[in-house]
Amino acid sequence: MSKQTDFINSNKDRYITELKHFLSYPSISTNPENKKDVLECAEYIKEHLEKIGFSNVTIYPTKGHPVVYADWLNAGADKPTILIYGHYDVQPVDPLNLWTSPPFEAEIRGENIFARGSADDKGQVFIHFKALEAHLSQNGSLPVNIKLIIEGEEEIGSIHLGDFISEHKDLLNCDVVVISDTAMYSKDVPAIGYALRGLCYMQVEVTGPNRDLHSGQYGGAVDNPINALAHMISKLKDDKGKILIDGFYDDVKPLSGEEIEGFKKLPFSDEEYAKGLKVEELFGESGYTTLERTWSRPTLDCNGIWGGFTGEGAKTVLPSKAFAKISMRLVPDQDPNKTEKLFTDYVKKIAPKTVKVEVKGLHHGKGAMTPIDTKWMKAASKAMAAGFGKEPVFIREGGSIPIVLTFKEMLGADTILLGFGLPDENAHSPDEHLNLNNFQNGILTCADFYDELAKI
Ligand code: BES
Ligand code: ZN
Repeated sequence: MSKQTDFINSNKDRYITELKHFLSYPSISTNPENKKDVLECAEYIKEHLEKIGFSNVTIYPTKGHPVVYADWLNAGADKPTILIYGHYDVQPVDPLNLWTSPPFEAEIRGENIFARGSADDKGQVFIHFKALEAHLSQNGSLPVNIKLIIEGEEEIGSIHLGDFISEHKDLLNCDVVVISDTAMYSKDVPAIGYALRGLCYMQVEVTGPNRDLHSGQYGGAVDNPINALAHMISKLKDDKGKILIDGFYDDVKPLSGEEIEGFKKLPFSDEEYAKGLKVEELFGESGYTTLERTWSRPTLDCNGIWGGFTGEGAKTVLPSKAFAKISMRLVPDQDPNKTEKLFTDYVKKIAPKTVKVEVKGLHHGKGAMTPIDTKWMKAASKAMAAGFGKEPVFIREGGSIPIVLTFKEMLGADTILLGFGLPDENAHSPDEHLNLNNFQNGILTCADFYDELAKI
């Protein structure tokens, strides 16, 4: 057993104590009132990286939340340079009453640590910190050159990170990017991700009469914007799950036979999946399996819809306005800006004359694909097998990490998605948690991965 493996195995308890502290910062990037907490979390990361042996650590302010950068480049020019990306911002915690323990006071129950950010993404970022610490403390060095970029705006679409990367291309220059911000295939099946979906997030505002009206005096004579909006939403998809926006599927490539076969080899049961979500039946685009639907087909979903009276009890009102937030997950060849235009044109086309409709894009991100047959992937696969005692499978991911394509476009680097979360760990939801065995095996995997990369 290597020195660092020994060290990792004997430091479990300390890791958890430290992770609890990292998880205590309410670094919710979307809430202006948490701006200071986000900054304090960045400062904590800087301090921690210095403590584990990084001497070049900088907090770069942006127009939004800061980016933490660190590097250790003493492995030599003949060794590869790895850029590890992660995010320290988290999603809001509402509905708070559905949390079993407070979201920023991490609690261990069974095999899991519960807190906002435990799986997405602080826990996974911490896995790298501890793997790096194991090397630095036990060997006094790292086997490869490492650059770290930990941002505070991933959950709001990495709004300022693209500019940061384009202004710091030399600083971030690397051979490959590694991200731990995705999920394993399942509890017993470690996985390496090779694709992410993109995102096009829209908001629709429907205005009817110039003011709220008494629904008895006016009801029947004036169109109700909520009814009109509901009607329009019903025309976005047919009852077989097909999206009806003109031109929407134009750039969607069919899956290769090889991928279809690959997906089929993975253990999967629709019945179990439905049971876990307590739904009688699944729903999705007809002609596709659940894995195909979630990994390799685009989707359209309402994320929120509001208007009129939503308080306790009843109020008879014909409201002036109605709103909906609608997002589309895109596959790698779809362009979110083009999709925004197609969506806007279609919504305007189906809007009745009785209301005014405004459509705006909130944030977008492109999907990404990484080739599987590379030396980087082989090294990752070997390390996963060593850390988890099981060969990983190669999977696509349904979620989005928009900056992955920016790394490819601006730095020319592919990304390896080395995820240690689980699909049912409640990311973005109450009682988010991270399995501590996967946390520990993740540290072993990453420490081994850096060694494997040095052999390339
Ligand atoms: N960690 C997720 C992305 C993810 C989750 C990828 C699970 C694959 C599997 C990330 O933090 C996230 O939630 N991203 C957002 C991006 C959006 C805000 C632009 C997402 O996917 O909704
Ligand atoms: Zn994340």
